Amino acid sequence: METSKIKELIGIAIQQLKFSYTPYSNFKVGAALLAENGSVYTGCNIENAAYTPCNCAERTAFFKAISEGVHNFQAICVVGGKNGELTEYAAPCGVCRQVMMEFCNPETFEIILAVDPEHYQVFRLKELMPMGFGPANLA
Ligand code: THU
Repeated sequence: METSKIKELIGIAIQQLKFSYTPYSNFKVGAALLAENGSVYTGCNIENAAYTPCNCAERTAFFKAISEGVHNFQAICVVGGKNGELTEYAAPCGVCRQVMMEFCNPETFEIILAVDPEHYQVFRLKELMPMGFGPANLA
């Protein structure tokens, strides 16, 4: 992906931190999911007093897109940190990686982890989810 597009997605993901609802962990996460059609779906993490209903920023973005009929994706950018301070990469949890396996090609889908527009690293889904189980296994 072009560097300018990566920086744009990082900026959008950082903007989502202000919506992050985290009264329990105060660990704020923002995500920007780029669909094949060029649309960007945003997400933040949303916590809950009962804990188990907590939703990660990545899944918020995916479920917003899926709920609008969009199923094809190029990349997701994820930023996060305690108190919303971005000091290190916030890598997607295992559940979010599994959701990515459902809708993304592990060979091509890119996961951009960033702390700011100048400091980021790009991974393919297959790197973060080796030997992942997905729809192809049931075909
Ligand atoms: N969280 C995310 O939103 N994405 C991740 O990839 C890791 C964890 C959230 C869930 C919870 O609200 C907080 O970070 C602490 O786990």
